Formats: sequence, structure tokens, C-alpha cells
Amino acid sequence: MSAPRGQFSSNVGFLMAAAGSAVGLGNIWGFPTKAASNGGAAFVVVYLFMAFLLAYPALMAELTIGRHARRNMVQALRGIARGPVTRFLGGLTGFGGILVASLILSFYAIVAGWMVAHLAEPFATLIGAGGIADWLTGDSTPRNLTVTAIFSGLTMLIIASGVEKGIERWSTLLMPSLILLLLLLIIYVLAQDGAMKGLEVYLMPDFSQLSPELMLSAMGQAFFSLSLGVGTMLIYGSYLSRQESLPRLGALVTLIDVGIAFTAGLLILPAMYVAQEAGTQIFSDTGELIAGPGLIMQVLPALFDTMGTAGLFVAIAFFALMVIASLTSSISMLEVPVAFAIENLGIGRRLATPLVGLAIFAISSLIIFNFDALFGLVVSISTEFGQPILGVALCIFAGWIWRRDQLLAELEKGHENVEQTLFWKVWPWYVRIVCPLLILAAFLQSLL
Ligand code: PHE
Repeated sequence: MSAPRGQFSSNVGFLMAAAGSAVGLGNIWGFPTKAASNGGAAFVVVYLFMAFLLAYPALMAELTIGRHARRNMVQALRGIARGPVTRFLGGLTGFGGILVASLILSFYAIVAGWMVAHLAEPFATLIGAGGIADWLTGDSTPRNLTVTAIFSGLTMLIIASGVEKGIERWSTLLMPSLILLLLLLIIYVLAQDGAMKGLEVYLMPDFSQLSPELMLSAMGQAFFSLSLGVGTMLIYGSYLSRQESLPRLGALVTLIDVGIAFTAGLLILPAMYVAQEAGTQIFSDTGELIAGPGLIMQVLPALFDTMGTAGLFVAIAFFALMVIASLTSSISMLEVPVAFAIENLGIGRRLATPLVGLAIFAISSLIIFNFDALFGLVVSISTEFGQPILGVALCIFAGWIWRRDQLLAELEKGHENVEQTLFWKVWPWYVRIVCPLLILAAFLQSLL
């Protein structure tokens, strides 16, 4: 028989790991730039609704299924099925989740690799290795392969160490550092000329921009940001003790995720306008705010360059923040296929991790070699199609296929008097009807 399953040693450990998964590039880069180009605080308000009214219930569905099954996504969904057809669909959804989690990791590791390169660059400059510094920031294929390999290697090292000694230990160490770095950077940037203009753009609502597209974009952002649909939260839930309250922990994860996304906006938008004040172009030729890779790869580095020696340390702090945020997310993605390999193929974690990790690195390499053709495609297949479809499937499993008494019994564990809460009365119906319909609507919209 296989080795005993891992488990988080405490609710704080789980919280750090799950919040670490949720808080990533999506919060620090995606959220602020989407808000800036979609009506500022108007987007923020819509996002808050989406996160709490839609993403939180879906997160609860994943956590509850996971903790009940105490297995990887494939076996968990098969286990709550009620006949051959739903068992087949459960397996299909589970495999879909594993595939999509792997695809997200394959492009995420490339972007995170860029962050590693930009983190290493100021060190190279400090020791006078100008050639290496140029290589690190010049967008070449060998550079991209090297930094993606370094980042993927770090992710594998943590996952190979297991749930408690790897995921929990590193998340508990890295998440507080992330918050500290974020706050220090905000204080520094807000003191620079031009910062207030950025705050204004971020915090002044322009409700004329409210539209169905804006709502859908906010929903997609909430889904990506809470790591939903692909089984990361399911597998983390499967390592959580039955003594902890799921509704409470799920709410805390959502709060931390939303809180850090909002706080990151207080850094990114002001930093962009400080860069403009220092002479960097922050609008594209068509008049839009530069939000894509250009923001992180050109606008912000240009800003750090204008700051002299202090700029080197600000750059280190900023890119350390990005690498930390990426790493606590990438480990949660890798855990999805690794848990499957351990539990279904019967191999040990130390073998499963490099096998799966290298396979995903191979996909990353393929993308790097065919960047223009593949990068956008993989992002779109995994996040615009994969995540919403799987999200609907998971809500249907929790709401329609799983036996209601079992679902409620799982929720009761660790939460006294849960029957008397509003959550208990509303949520089961909510995941049955509201969640699938809303996600489906958003998905159809994105198809059009
Ligand atoms: N939530 C992560 C972020 O915001 C991304 C992620 C997606 C992580 C899916 C795991 C699974 O960057």
C-alpha cells in the first residue's frame, strides 16, 4: 500500500498555503492593471461582488469535496458519483482539471521565470557583471529556458518535500514576507512625485464603464485569482483536518486574496504614474495604459533605473515580491498532477514530482520555442475555456450529483451549529443553480 497521506499541521498552515495559492501574478499584476483599464474603483466594486457572491461559493464546493474525499481530483469526483455515467463524468472532469492545472503551470512558469531574471539582474549589476545583467533582461530563448528551468526546479524542490515540510512550511515562510515587501514598496512609491495621480486613477470610480464585459472580466479574474476549477483548492482541502471550519477558512482565503489584490493596486498604479513623471511612456500608441508584459518588463524597470542606487534595492524588493507570489501559486498547481500520480500510479512523491515536473517543463519549453504561436493560445485554452467549464462541472458535482446529506455532513465537521447559519441555508442551493448559470453565462459571452 502507498504511504500515508500528508496533512496540514494546523489551520494557519492551511490558510497560508491556500492563500498562497490564490495570491499570485493574478493579484499583483492582473488585478491592478485590469482595474486601471476598466473604470478604476468601478471594477474594484464589481470584483468584490464577484469574489464573494460567486467565487467564494465555488471555492467552498472544491474545499468540501476535497476534504470529504481525501483524494486527488479524479478519485474524489469518482467517489461522490452515483452511477456509471456520473462516475465516468467525474473521471473526465478530474483528468480535465489535472490537464488544465498543468497547462496553467506551463505558461505561469515562463512568466515567473522572467521575474526570476529581473530579480537576478540588480545583483549582477551590483557585482559589476554588466554582460550577465544585459543577458538576463534581454528576451532571448536561452535566457527564457534557463530562468523557466530555475523557477520550475524551485517549484519541484518544494513539492518533493511533501505537504507539511514543503507546501506548508514554505507558504508559512513566504506569505508574511510577501505582505511585508508589498507594504514597504507601497510606502516608498507613494512618497514619489506623480504617485497621487495613480491613486486617483485607481480609486476614482468611473461607473460609465460598467458593462456586461466588465462584469465578465471581473468574474474571470476572480476565478483565476482564487485558483478555482482545476482542483488546487480541492487537493488542499483534502489535506485539511476535519476539526477546522470550512466556511470560515474559505471566507478567510477569499478575504486575503481580495485584500492583497486591492492592496497591490495601491502599488502598481502609483508606480506607473511615478514612471510617467520620470519620463517613461505608460500609454501605448493607441492611448491605452500599458498593462501587459511591457508594464513589468519595461515600464517598471525604467522607473527603477531613474532611482539610482536606491532603484537597485527597490527592483530587488519588487521582483522578490513577484517571485514569492508566483512560487506559492505554482506549487499548488504542481501538487494537482503530483497527487494524482502518487495516488493512482502508486509511485512515491520523490519520483512523481520530477516526472510530472519535467513533463510540464517540456510543455513550457515547447511554448518558449514557439512563443508567438503558443503562449496566447495556451493562456486562452486554460483560463478562458478550461477554468470556467471545469468550474461549472465542479458546482454541478457538489450541488446535483453528490448526496446532499453527505455534503451537509462534511460541512458540519469543525463548524458548530452550522445549521443555524445563513451560509447553511443559502449555499447548497446557490452552488446548484446560481453558480453554474452565472459561470456558464460568462463562458458563453467569452465565446462570442
Ligand atoms: N491564483 C493564482 C494567481 O492569482 C493563479 C492560479 C490559477 C493558481 C489556478 C492555481 C491554479 O496568480
